[in-house]
Amino acid sequence: MARREKLTLMKQYNSIKTRYPNSLLLFRMGDFYETFGDDAKIASEILGITLTSRNHGEKSRTPLAGIPHHSLDRYLKKLLDAGVRVAICEQLEDPKLARGLVKRDVVEIITPGTITISEALDEGRKNFLLALFPVGEKLALSYIDVLCGDFYTKSIPPSRLSSELMIISPAEILVPGNIDSGVLKVIKGYVKNITYVDDWKFDHQFAANTLKQFYHINSLDGFSQIPDEEIIASGVIIDYLKGLKKVGLEHISFPRGGRTSDYLELGESTVRNLELVRSFTDRKEEGSLLGSISETVTPMGKRLLREWLLHPLSNREKIEERLSAVDEAVQHLDITETLREYLSGIGDLERLSGKIGARKAGPRDIAGLCQSLGLVSKIKKSLEAFYSKKLVEIKEGIEDFSPLVRAIERTIFPDPPARITDGGVIKDGVSSELDELRSIRDDARGWLKNLEMSLRKKTGISKLRVGYNKVFGYYIEVTKSFLDRIPDDFIRKQTLVQAERFITPELKQFEEKILSSSERIIEIEKGIFEELLHFVEGWAFKLRELAQLLSQLDTLLGFATLAVKKRYCRPVIREDDRIIIKEGRHPVIEDFIGASAYTPNDTFLSNDRDQILVVTGPNMSGKSTYLRQTGLIVIMAHMGCFVPATSAEICLVDKLFTRVGAYDNIARGQSTFLVEMVEVANILNNATSHSLVLLDEIGRGTSTFDGLSIAWAVTECLHNHKTVRPKTVLATHYHELTELAAYLPRVKNLQVMVKRIGENIHFTHKITEGGCDDSYGIEVAKLAGLPEESIERAREILEALENGKSPISSKAIFKKSKKEKYGEYQISLFEPEYHPLIQALRELDIDNITPIQALEILSHWKEKWKRF
Ligand SMILES: Nc1ncnc2c1ncn2[C@@H]1O[C@H](COP(=O)(O)OP(=O)(O)O)[C@@H](O)[C@H]1O
Ligand SMILES: [Mg+2]
Repeated sequence: MARREKLTLMKQYNSIKTRYPNSLLLFRMGDFYETFGDDAKIASEILGITLTSRNHGEKSRTPLAGIPHHSLDRYLKKLLDAGVRVAICEQLEDPKLARGLVKRDVVEIITPGTITISEALDEGRKNFLLALFPVGEKLALSYIDVLCGDFYTKSIPPSRLSSELMIISPAEILVPGNIDSGVLKVIKGYVKNITYVDDWKFDHQFAANTLKQFYHINSLDGFSQIPDEEIIASGVIIDYLKGLKKVGLEHISFPRGGRTSDYLELGESTVRNLELVRSFTDRKEEGSLLGSISETVTPMGKRLLREWLLHPLSNREKIEERLSAVDEAVQHLDITETLREYLSGIGDLERLSGKIGARKAGPRDIAGLCQSLGLVSKIKKSLEAFYSKKLVEIKEGIEDFSPLVRAIERTIFPDPPARITDGGVIKDGVSSELDELRSIRDDARGWLKNLEMSLRKKTGISKLRVGYNKVFGYYIEVTKSFLDRIPDDFIRKQTLVQAERFITPELKQFEEKILSSSERIIEIEKGIFEELLHFVEGWAFKLRELAQLLSQLDTLLGFATLAVKKRYCRPVIREDDRIIIKEGRHPVIEDFIGASAYTPNDTFLSNDRDQILVVTGPNMSGKSTYLRQTGLIVIMAHMGCFVPATSAEICLVDKLFTRVGAYDNIARGQSTFLVEMVEVANILNNATSHSLVLLDEIGRGTSTFDGLSIAWAVTECLHNHKTVRPKTVLATHYHELTELAAYLPRVKNLQVMVKRIGENIHFTHKITEGGCDDSYGIEVAKLAGLPEESIERAREILEALENGKSPISSKAIFKKSKKEKYGEYQISLFEPEYHPLIQALRELDIDNITPIQALEILSHWKEKWKRF
């Protein structure tokens, strides 16, 4: 490149780059995307590509790093994962035809929340961009999966923020620049990519204009159910997208307002502690409920399953519709199997339709679409065997795509190359000009062979050869010894060691025809393909709907397969407030240890008699598992999924709360007592009598005395609340809590049976009625491999305690003991100087609570200790 050309190129680059200061600019030059300057340094570091420097006609040398255009997807994923915004600058004209500098401009900016390249996305989950607008005591949320086109809005109280962020897990969040620092702190715990938007854009007028323009509508009447603040958040999100993408947003649906009351509300702690979508330990899907119940055969079904799991239904009719569909699919396994086979051939139609909408589909995508649509008609046919409402609805929702199939089949080969520029995409018979040019090209070989033969005859040179070379084009080659025999019209072209190469006017003419025909072939193919794409684009919205129906079908048939494979039963959704589970199992642990090794257990909960189950038993006996299996079965039933039990009758639940006693509060230096009480106050403030509360070892991780009083107080609270009676399962190793049942009528004791065989114990994992009166702590310690010496000592202490003596009375013994706290087991809770109220008062950190919290605590104490 001449110095001047380089200079103008850099000028063009700089003028584009200044418009996108916050993005990494990928500048298309031929087969490469180049980066320059600081961008090049960032790109080379993140992507591990070589950083070079080149003189671009300027005085100093510019750093430079490039990536081949066909690997864009792979590199893009890395850049986005590193939280970089990428601006894609393309050549807007064919460099061969351009006069002077090729026109270039940015066609798209890609951010983590706005990826439209499916290869750069995680297959199993949606990729949401979310806009948040805090207004008054509410937060308005609006979120879009740009590739799939789903668009939702909802409003939540600030206390739900972390739960919603956990459930939606947005890839990127848009917030006003002046956002409250407290809200921002919560967001930072859940979302990596935060984008600040000008405050003035959070305005109703602005949003209304943006949305009207985007959807080509005159008024927002159609959005009347969506409150103003959600309209504002939606306006912000659409405005942001329009700023990033010039084309390809047509498939985005209208915003759908969601009411939290449509779903069983799950809190952040429930999603995390019940390990719904990823396991606690290694944060992978394996070991989570999602991992255990995932039987879908398409990526879109898999994504929907995740959505269903995080949004269990709260409407009986809708749940029953799903259950009946699953039931029918279980009854007709052969048809279910056939349908699943078809579905597995369809693949990710949802993202494919997004790709078509975003104008990113290539020949193979279109051919794949055509093949999938062939299967769709078979699916529709097979579905005729089903009568349940949901499956009939799916069948009837499937449109006739035969005009689209015919158009594609007519136009392109079934197995085309990846890119249109590779040629050979458009079928013969579509364009007569194309056919003619192709026959010229295809006849070339024969024509050249003929020319070779006739020249050999004419010259008598038997070794004369006609050939082709990329640099020099067509030639006639004659070895040096025959040079005297060449005719006059041979024009010398190239000299080799052994031979000379020539061209003739006839061959030259042929060459031109061939070369121009190849170029013209690509041009015609491109034109026809673009026309086809345009036609297909017209179907993008219908394809999106089809994809949604098929993902529902996939998920429902997956439930059926799961039910058969793992002997799950159809739950009955009860009208009253009872939960009756017979021989329930924990779906994940059962998978893990094998069905035959798992001990099934019953659960009975009701608001009037068995409101609070206090489950006692030694460590490792199965308390947590029992508590969780109850929660998981309730969630699964609300998803419309069969459940791991021999029978299950589940009432509708509006909210599921989970609280697991943890050590981390202490590490943060807060009083566990206070934290637990505030948490429970939160639960009580938000729970209703239709809620389910799971409390696992609350008060653990503090001193025995403290822990016991926490658990005690919490249970009383849940029992004695004036209006709210949430059904509760409480697992604890404090067997003292069994005393509660004696004076709280709706508390029932359950224990995990443990068999004592000589000095050893055996866990049966069987839950029975009654309170466990023995903590088996020593035996468990032995099982855990504690040294014999310590175990002996523990037995001594226990014996002393059981005989009413204090082990502390002997100093010598005391010194030997590490279990100083053990003595506290014997202290009665209600001896005045050890009264929990005094203890709580001592621990109350007045400097660190708000007045509201203080009031809450005070009123709670008054309620709790009014008897004294
Ligand atoms: N019903 C059961 N059947 C078979 N194994 C079980 C059962 N419940 C629990 N387990 C096994 O016991 C282990 C400990 O159970 P867990 O519920 O954590 O005990 P706890 O909460 O009482 O300490 C589990 O990891 C599981 O392997
Ligand atoms: Mg436990």
